Amino acid sequence: MARVLSGIQPSGDPHLGNYIGAMRHWVADQERDDCFFFIVDLHALTTQSDPRELRAATIDLAAWLLAVGLTPERATLWVQSHVHEHAELAWILQCFTAFGELNRMTQFKERREQQDFVSAGLFTYPALQAADILLYAIDRVPVGEDQRQHLELTRDVAARFNQRFGETFVLPEAAIPSVGGRVMNLQEPGKKMSKSTGAPSGTINLADPPDVVSRKVKSAVTDSGRDIVARDDKPAISNLLEIHSAMSGRTVAELEEAYAGAGYGAFKQDLAELLVERLDPLRRRHHELMGDPAELARLLEVGAERAQAIASKTLGTVYERVGLLPRGRA
Ligand code: TYM
Repeated sequence: MARVLSGIQPSGDPHLGNYIGAMRHWVADQERDDCFFFIVDLHALTTQSDPRELRAATIDLAAWLLAVGLTPERATLWVQSHVHEHAELAWILQCFTAFGELNRMTQFKERREQQDFVSAGLFTYPALQAADILLYAIDRVPVGEDQRQHLELTRDVAARFNQRFGETFVLPEAAIPSVGGRVMNLQEPGKKMSKSTGAPSGTINLADPPDVVSRKVKSAVTDSGRDIVARDDKPAISNLLEIHSAMSGRTVAELEEAYAGAGYGAFKQDLAELLVERLDPLRRRHHELMGDPAELARLLEVGAERAQAIASKTLGTVYERVGLLPRGRA
């Protein structure tokens, strides 16, 4: 069985990009593999400032993980800060990551433009992400396209550490979907769908009720002409076709053929219905799960224990390899 891990930030409602690019694959992965999925609250501190909002978003996201179909019987689910080894290994890895490597991260370059206060945490964010993965000897990391560079850095840092201290870390592979790896904003198809940037009406949140989902799809911008084809010069309709394909399981080629000559209106109508049909049950389930936050906390506690059993062993090995003196020994 392969070991699979991925994480998601508790910074507002998860959106359709998170679902298509990552979460729905996690649900499929848990059927086959040994899976670890967690809520990256420490990472969220690089953007989030309100403590109450962060706490609420963390439990809310736990409910979303279950609502989309993850189950604690098949996957280990926890909150990053509950396993202190993440932060500790992150420090060690920061000492083996070059300033220049972090400085080349496109996500850092983008985010620094959007924030008034650019913290050192925003800069070293990828070292914490590397720690998240390397603690668990992970084979595969299912993520969207925007995480590719962070995964490459993780491999580079792991290889450097292994070279210097002997085989310690497993080098993980990124698993990025060929369809839906980068879902774009429906109003600004040049920007990726995101919680924080781009027109809010171009981001479909999993919490949006059916009428809102429908309205957002129907008011999505389209390209000139009326052909329903995926092409570089038609970014808006290409994005809608990818969303349809990811949610319906039909290939983009099949959809192009099925909608030849149909016009944008008819296609959007069908896409709106498809999304409502798929997303509404998730929204309802999330609502139910939020009725029992104590149970969510209990499940996260079980997950944290399982995760920590693995993480503490790895951290112990790393401390020893780098030469930190064990407590009580001379
Ligand atoms: P985050 O919270 O931004 O996003 C969670 C997952 O959703 C994917 N995603 C998208 N996929 C397709 N289209 C989009 N528009 C879109 N927007 C987001 C992301 O690629 C991601 O897979 N740094 C990570 C969290 C993280 C992590 C980790 C991931 C921390 N440690 C260890 C994997 C392994 C992040 O901020 O994801």
